[in-house]
Amino acid sequence: MEDRVVSGEANEQEVSFEMSLRPQTLAQYIGQDEVKHNLAVFIEAAKGRRETLDHVLLYGPPGLGKTTLAAVIANEMGANIRTTSGPAIERPGDLASVLTALEPGEVLFIDEIHRLPKAIEEVLYPAMEDFCLDIVIGKGSGARSIRLDLPPFTLIGATTRAGSVSAPLRDRFGVISRLEYYNEAQLAEIVLRTAGILETAIEPEGAAEIARRSRGTPRIANRLLRRVRDFAQVKGDGKVTLEIANYALELLQVDKRGLDHIDHKLLKAIIERFRGGPVGLDTIAASIGEERETIEDVYEPYLLQIGFLQRTPRGRVATPLCYAHFHMEVPE
Ligand SMILES: Nc1ncnc2c1ncn2[C@@H]1O[C@H](COP(=O)(O)OP(=O)(O)OP(=O)(O)O)[C@@H](O)[C@H]1O
Ligand SMILES: [Mg+2]
Repeated sequence: MEDRVVSGEANEQEVSFEMSLRPQTLAQYIGQDEVKHNLAVFIEAAKGRRETLDHVLLYGPPGLGKTTLAAVIANEMGANIRTTSGPAIERPGDLASVLTALEPGEVLFIDEIHRLPKAIEEVLYPAMEDFCLDIVIGKGSGARSIRLDLPPFTLIGATTRAGSVSAPLRDRFGVISRLEYYNEAQLAEIVLRTAGILETAIEPEGAAEIARRSRGTPRIANRLLRRVRDFAQVKGDGKVTLEIANYALELLQVDKRGLDHIDHKLLKAIIERFRGGPVGLDTIAASIGEERETIEDVYEPYLLQIGFLQRTPRGRVATPLCYAHFHMEVPE
């Protein structure tokens, strides 16, 4: 897969840039109002009872703010956060050592929790339910199981694929929150906030244009702002205006709806080679030389979200909205 400026996934070079932009409190965390409102109540209630917060599962597409929100929750609880990820935990013993190292009240954040192997998940169940660990010592007929008490803690899990989290694991989370794509006003607010942190001058119209092309995703909004800022500095007077934003995003080949050449290739293939569909995913994949899974997980979700593509039992269909975007007539 190639690097895309409109990819929701983080790239290596962005890590420290992103860290510097992370909001610390619920009040600084823009959008996701329903999720935030509920969490604020649960956090206040838990603090009032001097208990830990229930375990929280956060899910939604890449770049919407799951990791950020996990840190915000810990901060609001006044708790230390420890971070690990599904792929990093290879054996049950790895998880046991993470759990036994926890201090009372701490937050354990497990990113990509859907990638925890089943055998390791099972270690988590008693830890989540009763704050204890069942350890088997010895082998064969001499083997016996002992219970180890753990301090009370809050597990926060994050995943981009809620469907891949097993039912028994999902059932052990008291709070399950789905993050939604952001609207343009919220993204513009995020762009303005980031510009403030970067000490970049910006006009509201410039921020709105970047927001419009950011695919509902804060990570993309921040990335586009950073690229546009370079153009403003080199081609303008340093200020991010509407003209500079349009100019830069045109050159970056991010169109008015945030689509790039890969989206165009996919949509044009459906329109031009298959009369707009319905056409099966495998046929599309073969036709544009991409993996079926990549189309399903990476390319397609945003196109479905904005109603350019539709999923039908007989395959994908390009919608009238999609035709209109390319100034094309829907065939009879
Ligand atoms: N609600 C928000 N308000 C302001 N900035 C945000 C918000 N949500 C995310 N961001 C910014 O977007 C960037 C990406 O967020 P984050 O890393 O939390 O996404 P994620 O959902 O964990 O992505 P992934 O699925 O790749 O792990 C961060 O730099 C963060 O500062
Ligand atoms: Mg993350």
